Amino acid sequence: MTDSRIPTARLGDGGPEVGVQGLGCMGMSFAYGPSDAKESRATLERALELGVTLYDTADAYGAGENERFLSPFFKAHRDEVVIATKFALAIPPDDPTRRIIRNDRPYLREAVEASLRRLDVDVIDLYYMHRRDVNVPIEETVGAMAELVREGKVRHLGLSEVTATELRAAHAVHPIAAVQSEWSLFSRDIEARVVPAAGELGVALVPYSPLGRGFLTGSFTDAGQDLTADDFRRLQPRFTGENAAVNATLLDPIRTVAQAHDATPAQIALAWVHHQARLHHLPVVPIPGTRKPGRVEENAGAATIELAEEELALLEPIADKVAGDRYPDMSFASAGRE
Ligand SMILES: NC(=O)c1ccc[n+]([C@@H]2O[C@H](COP(=O)([O-])OP(=O)(O)OC[C@H]3O[C@@H](n4cnc5c(N)ncnc54)[C@H](OP(=O)(O)O)[C@@H]3O)[C@@H](O)[C@H]2O)c1
Repeated sequence: MTDSRIPTARLGDGGPEVGVQGLGCMGMSFAYGPSDAKESRATLERALELGVTLYDTADAYGAGENERFLSPFFKAHRDEVVIATKFALAIPPDDPTRRIIRNDRPYLREAVEASLRRLDVDVIDLYYMHRRDVNVPIEETVGAMAELVREGKVRHLGLSEVTATELRAAHAVHPIAAVQSEWSLFSRDIEARVVPAAGELGVALVPYSPLGRGFLTGSFTDAGQDLTADDFRRLQPRFTGENAAVNATLLDPIRTVAQAHDATPAQIALAWVHHQARLHHLPVVPIPGTRKPGRVEENAGAATIELAEEELALLEPIADKVAGDRYPDMSFASAGRE
C-alpha cells in the first residue's frame, strides 16, 4: 500500500481545506455492532498519516459516546484535524431509547456546549444540523447557528439531509460550507436538486454512507442474517429479505470494474463518488466509515482511481434497480420532502 497522501479539496467557498476523503467515525461507538477500541484508535492514526483530515462524528452517535471516544485523538492532533460534529437528534426525557428532532435555538445552545465539553476542545470546525425539524423555520435555526460562529464556538456551518429549497434559504442567512447527505452507487436521489443547488451556491458535498453502509463492498449480504441483533442496518428496508437478495445481484458490475483496476469493490464504489466532483463541478469529500487500519488504507487508495467512460456506463444503471428505501421513514431524508 502506498504511503503518499491523498489530494485535498476546499469545503465550500470559504471553508477549510481537507483531505479529499474524510473518515466516518460513527461505527467506532454506535450502530454497526461491536468495535475494538484499540483497532479504532489505530485506524484514526493511520488515516491521518494518509492525509485524511476531516473526521465525522455527531452527538447522537452513542448519546455522546463517539465524541468522547474521539477526544484524545483530536487533542493529540488538534492543528492537523478538522472536527465535524452534529446536533438535532435529541433524547426525550421520558424515553432514552427514542430520538426526536430539535432545531430550536435553546436546544442548539445546550447541544453545542455539551459537544464542546465531550470533545474537550474550544471550537468545533464544522457544525452540522443533523436532521430537519419542519416545525422550525430553517432561517431561525441557521441564524442561531451563525451566532455560534460569531461567538467563536464554531468555525463553519453544515446541514445534513436538507432539500435544495432548505439549503438556499439557509445559505441566504449564513454561508453553508457543506451539505452532508447519503450519496453512493445505491443512493443517488440528491443528484436531482440538492447537488445542482450546492454547485450553484459554492457549497461542498460530503457524501455519507458512500459504501452503501458496507453493502457495496460485499462484506454482508442480508443484514437480518449476517449482522448482530443491535445493528442499525437490520432496520433498513434495502438490506434484508427479498430486497437484499435483489440488491446483492447488482454488485456484479462493480466487481467487473474492480478486476480491471486490480482494485476492490470498495475502492470502485468510492472512486465513483470521487468522480462526481468532476462531473458536477463541485467539491465532493466522502466520509467512508471504517474501524480497521487496513481498510482506511484501501479506501484512501480510491481517491486517485480514475474510471473510464465505459466503466461509468456499466455502473450507471445500478441505482435505479435498488429494491427498498434507505430509511424505514423517508421523511427523515431530504428526498422524502422534495
Ligand atoms: N448525516 C447522517 O445522517 C449520517 C448517516 C449515516 C452515517 N453518517 C456518517 O457517515 C459515515 C460513513 O457512513 P457509514 O459508516 O454509514 O457507511 P459506509 O461508509 O458506506 O460503510 C461503512 C461500513 O463499511 C465497512 N467498510 C468500510 N470500508 C470497507 C472496506 N474497504 N471493505 C469492506 N468493508 C468496508 C465498515 O466496516 P468496518 O467499520 O468494520 O470496517 C462499515 O460496516 C459514518 O461513520 C458517519 O460519520 C452520517
